[in-house]
Amino acid sequence: MSQNDTPRAVSPAQIEDLRHRALAVATNAYAPYSHFRVGAALLLEDGNMVTGCNVENASYRLTTCAEQATIAAAVALHGPTIRLKAVVIVNLNNAASQPCGACRQTIYEFSTPSTEVFFPAADGSLTRSTAAELLPHAFRLSTENL
Ligand code: THU
Repeated sequence: MSQNDTPRAVSPAQIEDLRHRALAVATNAYAPYSHFRVGAALLLEDGNMVTGCNVENASYRLTTCAEQATIAAAVALHGPTIRLKAVVIVNLNNAASQPCGACRQTIYEFSTPSTEVFFPAADGSLTRSTAAELLPHAFRLSTENL
């Protein structure tokens, strides 16, 4: 592999930019039931950034997590071939929070082996992980499944 093929990690400045964008969009969260306001910011491989927040529902199970809302928006805006370079998740509740299982599968769907995911730790810092670390043995639909 040549130097140019090496996947470049997201820079600290980019992470900070994404964190600020996620905090801003989290103020739009619709969370009248849990009062847990979550924001997500995506950096796509092509450089585009997309943000989104959680949207709850009186029928609790219809709630859309911030990560899923944001990825759906990214596909709508930029098409079905998007790939995630980085995902930054925050909340306005000063709480540690990790992407839920369903969100991990959704992130995985649009990830690459180098997709980086950052989520809030208890001390207010961001924990770094990868899509593959978050969801080992992710479900993949291959023609053998059909
Ligand atoms: N939530 C997210 O938006 N992302 C996650 O990864 C975990 C949970 C939302 C869903 C619900 O609106 C609130 O946080 C409490 O679970």
